[in-house]
Amino acid sequence: MIDRRTFATRAITASLAASLAPNLFSASTNSSNSDVRLGFIGVGGRGTGVLETLLEMEGVQFPAICDVIGKNLAQAQKLVEESGRDRPEAYLKGPYDYRRLLERDDLHGVVIATPWRWHIPMSIDTLNAGKAVACEVGPANSTEECWELVRAAEGSPASCMILENACYRRNMMALLNMTRQGLLGDLLQCRGGYLHDLRKRIILGKGTGVSLPTGGDYRTRQNQIRNGDIYPTHGLGPLAQILDINRGNRFVSLSAFATKSSGLQTWTNRNLPSDHPAQQYEWAMGDVVTSIIQCQNGENVVLTHDCALPRPKSFGWQIQGTLGIYNEEANGIHIDGRSKGHQWEPFEKYQSEFEHPVWQRYQKIGIRGGHDGADFLELSAFVEMLRQDKPAPLDAYDMATWMAITPLSEQSIQLGGQPVPFPDFSDGKWRNREPSFALT
Ligand SMILES: NC(=O)c1ccc[n+]([C@@H]2O[C@H](COP(=O)([O-])OP(=O)(O)OC[C@H]3O[C@@H](n4cnc5c(N)ncnc54)[C@H](O)[C@@H]3O)[C@@H](O)[C@H]2O)c1
Repeated sequence: MIDRRTFATRAITASLAASLAPNLFSASTNSSNSDVRLGFIGVGGRGTGVLETLLEMEGVQFPAICDVIGKNLAQAQKLVEESGRDRPEAYLKGPYDYRRLLERDDLHGVVIATPWRWHIPMSIDTLNAGKAVACEVGPANSTEECWELVRAAEGSPASCMILENACYRRNMMALLNMTRQGLLGDLLQCRGGYLHDLRKRIILGKGTGVSLPTGGDYRTRQNQIRNGDIYPTHGLGPLAQILDINRGNRFVSLSAFATKSSGLQTWTNRNLPSDHPAQQYEWAMGDVVTSIIQCQNGENVVLTHDCALPRPKSFGWQIQGTLGIYNEEANGIHIDGRSKGHQWEPFEKYQSEFEHPVWQRYQKIGIRGGHDGADFLELSAFVEMLRQDKPAPLDAYDMATWMAITPLSEQSIQLGGQPVPFPDFSDGKWRNREPSFALT
């Protein structure tokens, strides 16, 4: 049972969230007072975290939850009940039981936090059922399914949002603000990626979801069968906003290169006994995958995937323009005429001077939740989208574009690094679409 202190803390947080969260992204009062009713598909490690963050918001109900593991589902039901809400109905009859959840007529939206291969098929089914999607990040299985996603979104009355929390990070929103004000000048090159030592997690699995018969989980499997950038969206999402991708700009081609695979076998040799099943694994993934993406307006993006080598975690963000440069790993910025020649200045000073208005409002109500507060912001944006019947801030065109990096990088690597054309998922609409993410 929830203790009194936890309950009191949650109640205070919930009332703050209820009164203030709807104003984080717009001053509009055109909000529905009725509860937002969400279904959940997948409540493992991440899904549970997302659920806990949403439970802090008043006026959000959870009538239905689906998972293939009874323990995970029961834990999620318990969390909802402990928050004082009705116990959600369980959908536990196998990998396609989510389709029964989608038949309900009382859901406004569905949160999808399942393993990667399910993301786009489940999003398409959800849109076809007329319900809004909030889908976790990961790779697409193919560019064809990205097209199917876009077509489903275009044919659905409901919106589709990719839950890319990196777009809501404090530093990246301040940089969006700065670049919109022209502080870095004309932008030329952005760098980013997912540089995270996940060796143990890739080889042995996370233990919160479905395991493979030989051990490990979906991330293990994807590293065994794919050679491309399999986690592109964290690094790319904020850069795509800064470069107005799908809104006045677009990606036109991609070239990718992979090193050999050595890091996972090295870790296995050093940490596991010689008779461990992981000694037999073969890894298709190169340890460092680098993609270079050319943009219509003349910029390029260098994206790195590096999860099989020892290193501190980083998104490797760098933004270079004609008037200055930002570098995440140096935590530094250099502005022509403002910074001492050839030297970094600490980013903190600029962070407060160019704080994004969303973060100014957020700091007043108190930062909360995972990923340095970014999770609460992205989920507030989804709830606000449903309450105010607004378009998705990170929509199906963004989701298709960012997730397509995986199959496109695989294709280019197979072609020895040759450029492959980047599909225009907006079918020309990028020309007239205006930037819309976090404008105020
Ligand atoms: N945005 C972030 O910062 C962040 C952080 C962690 C994970 N993630 C993403 O969240 C997703 C889930 O990751 P995770 O670590 O929670 O994995 P997990 O394995 O812990 O959880 C996945 C859950 O989905 C369930 N599931 C699997 N197949 C299903 C099906 N057909 N129907 C219903 N449920 C099904 C599993 O039983 C499990 O409970 C991944 O896409 C991951 O990349 C994002």
